Amino acid sequence: MDQVGSGYGLHGCAGQRLARIEAQAIFTALLDRVDRIELAGPPGRHLNNVIRGLDSLPVTVTTRRV
Ligand code: HEM
Repeated sequence: MDQVGSGYGLHGCAGQRLARIEAQAIFTALLDRVDRIELAGPPGRHLNNVIRGLDSLPVTVTTRRV
């Protein structure tokens, strides 16, 4: 088990292959258009006893000049 982001075992995420294809398409498209993504403030933590997550992640996106 390398990571638990998709769960694992019998009830591991049934959509993880699709989710990976989608994530790859999004980051590939972003890389074509964006030079830098920088943290613009403290991440807003989502408090949950079971799952770690964020409510917000402020970033500054610098687009690529064409
Ligand atoms: C980044 C996107 C996604 C993440 C991080 C994610 C994460 C997870 C996790 C952690 C579980 C396991 C929950 C548990 O252990 O009880 C799960 C289950 C599941 N996911 Fe996803 N998921 C994503 C996208 C999707 C997509 C796109 C689909 C469907 C098209 C999907 C369908 C399911 C289903 C049906 C289960 C239940 C599997 C079962 O209980 O047998 N997920 N997901």
